[in-house]
Amino acid sequence: MALGPIAVVENSILELRRALEQASSIAALTGAGISAESGVPTFRGPNGLWRNYSPEQLATPEAFARNPRLVWEWYDWRRGLIRKAQPNPGHLALAELERRKPGFTLVTQNVDGLHDRAGSRNVVKLHGDLWLVQCTGCGAVERNEEVPLQGELPPRCRCGEALRPAVVWFGESLPEPAWERALQASGRSELFLVVGTSSVVYPAAGLAEVARRAGARLAIVNPEPTPLDAGADWVLRGPAGELLPRLL
Ligand code: OAD
Repeated sequence: MALGPIAVVENSILELRRALEQASSIAALTGAGISAESGVPTFRGPNGLWRNYSPEQLATPEAFARNPRLVWEWYDWRRGLIRKAQPNPGHLALAELERRKPGFTLVTQNVDGLHDRAGSRNVVKLHGDLWLVQCTGCGAVERNEEVPLQGELPPRCRCGEALRPAVVWFGESLPEPAWERALQASGRSELFLVVGTSSVVYPAAGLAEVARRAGARLAIVNPEPTPLDAGADWVLRGPAGELLPRLL
């Protein structure tokens, strides 16, 4: 008798759990979907941010040069949303995996800081951090957790120049040290987990391919199909907050 879809998912969970137990080197790449169950909007999809807001007007260096106040208003709004959000069981499961597995590296495209708040200690942040600001003049980076931001927007550095969110915008390169660490962790992983990302934004999406070429087995956790599914060893269709805790 052929197995039904629920039995297939159950089998995959058991198998992947065993593979995670046995692997000594694991890397995970997360995207906006892991924070969806915390109430943080994703970028694409029916209720995604890029449906209602234009990346060209809000998430490029040109947009910031043109209208820093508008860009900051949007980031201030997102910081407010995220401040109220709590890490969900998906974030917590990855923090637990880090505690159990010394050879585990968490790479994220998210800037929301929810992995840190869930207890992950060693997060490779490919797209920066919403809670850091960087001076457009002297380059100084500092933590800023004020919600909402006080005073006039854009906030100013001590040196007088405008501060910007320390995140990667379209058209900008990823921070080199983070990218290097992500490449290395992907290349040496035996198991590569891709969680809550549409896998369409490069270079981050290319890490799964780096891992696979180096011999890693690939597992996807996502309620929707992704371009990586065809080459994956496990595709777990469902919400990360429900599935990840079951892999431990
Ligand atoms: P996307 O919004 O492109 O994709 C979110 C993914 O999460 C989709 O594949 C959803 O199916 C999936 N998803 C939704 N709910 C989920 C849940 N509960 N559990 C697991 N998965 C779920 O977000 P990213 O792939 O992160 O870049 O987008 C990549 C980059 O594009 C972002 O870092 C951002 C954006 O433009 C920059 O800002 C530079």
